[in-house]
Amino acid sequence: MVDLLQPVEMARLSLRNRLMRSATAERLSEPDGTPMPELADSMGALARGGVGLIVLGHTFVRPDGKASRGMAGLWRDDQIPAFSRIARAVHEAGGAIAVQINHAGRQANPEYCGGQPIAPSGLDATEWTPVAREIRVQEIPGLICSYAQAARRVKEAGFDAVQIHAAHGYLIGQFLSPHANRRQDAWGGPLEARAEFLRQVAGAVRAQVGADYPVLIKLGLADFIEGGLSLEDGLQVAGMLESIGIDLVEISGGAGAGNSRERVRDIEDEGYFLPWAREVRRVTSLPLAVVGGMRSRSLMQRALDEGVSDLISLSRPLIREPDLPRKFAEGRSERATCISCNLCSKNSHEPTRCWVA
Ligand SMILES: Cc1cc2nc3c(=O)[nH]c(=O)nc-3n(C[C@H](O)[C@H](O)[C@H](O)COP(=O)(O)O)c2cc1C
Repeated sequence: MVDLLQPVEMARLSLRNRLMRSATAERLSEPDGTPMPELADSMGALARGGVGLIVLGHTFVRPDGKASRGMAGLWRDDQIPAFSRIARAVHEAGGAIAVQINHAGRQANPEYCGGQPIAPSGLDATEWTPVAREIRVQEIPGLICSYAQAARRVKEAGFDAVQIHAAHGYLIGQFLSPHANRRQDAWGGPLEARAEFLRQVAGAVRAQVGADYPVLIKLGLADFIEGGLSLEDGLQVAGMLESIGIDLVEISGGAGAGNSRERVRDIEDEGYFLPWAREVRRVTSLPLAVVGGMRSRSLMQRALDEGVSDLISLSRPLIREPDLPRKFAEGRSERATCISCNLCSKNSHEPTRCWVA
């Protein structure tokens, strides 16, 4: 029997328990992405709350990939010291921390990313996204290189791992999606071609960080939009991950909206990606983390007992209760008090916090 709150060695990481803080944009960085001191303080507090592994919110790998105000960015070597302070704050509190590296592609915000966003294909504007410029084929190696250089900086800054963001409709998700990727060249068309960008990013990241450094991925298994990535294709991608050097897969889904579901009221609403985790188990032997509406300790433990997941990943509950793991350990809570209202996500111009009294 594995215990949610007992230490574990996994994916080249030593963790004090199986609770993970899923990447959550903290919005506590300067306009160029350099973390403000408050970000290190906030991650230190989270670590003191007892979570096993923290994943820092998505961090842009170059300025044209910036999605929102306050987003962290790690695209210059002189930013490394500010990130090191975050890693130190977490380590001093006995925790472990990874950085999620990302390029927002067409979900970059023109106000913050220096102009028109770039994307695999130039599509019409949507509620979420302006018209993007199609990435020229000769620009692709430079983009891949920016992920790899960001990963190198993550390692140099003293973090325990790097996580590649391949979910929620950002650049890697856009390449994977037949809806967002209409390219006719070697980077579009059949799944093999749509997955080539991810494959090359993973390879370049691995080449920079070396064979022993943990490389994690957050994978969106399906887009929830017509013509988007299907679950069948998402599972094929999951099946490729081991061969491209990934150490652990966190399962999510939804291009843009859909990953942070509202109205997680009863235990029946909880763990909405658990059914997908069961499918992913069949196609890979990599360790899995599952996110999405995990709220009750009993459900988390059951997911471990049934072998559905190896780590339990939480975002919104830890915004409201950074010390939830400690409360579980001390028997002071059996269920997160987060009501999944998404005000934390909607108030996107402010540093991230819980808005419910
Ligand atoms: C305020 C906020 C910021 C988020 N930022 C990120 C992010 O930077 N990277 C990411 O992969 N997911 C992000 N997410 C999604 C969460 O990590 C998580 O996948 C989703 O909220 C479902 O988990 P939960 O029910 O535990 O909140 C964010 C969610 C919220 C509410």
